[in-house]
Amino acid sequence: MSDAKITVIRNGPLRIEGSFEICDHDAQAFGLGGRTALSLCRCGHSANKPFCDGSHGRQGFESAVEARDLPPKA
Ligand code: FES
Repeated sequence: MSDAKITVIRNGPLRIEGSFEICDHDAQAFGLGGRTALSLCRCGHSANKPFCDGSHGRQGFESAVEARDLPPKA
């Protein structure tokens, strides 16, 4: 069971902190080297997907979101 917090960084990645695992399409877990925080690319420019490598800044990625309520699950 994961207990994680994900923060949408303005003009940047998704920052995940806590207890989590990240798996590929085949459900194989990435070895995270004991990390309890890391950043996931949401700009599409990282050369190390799914992880952020800082390319968002060089590419001028812009995305600022505010928390909101989603509609009820259908
Ligand atoms: S969000 Fe950082 S490289 Fe994509």
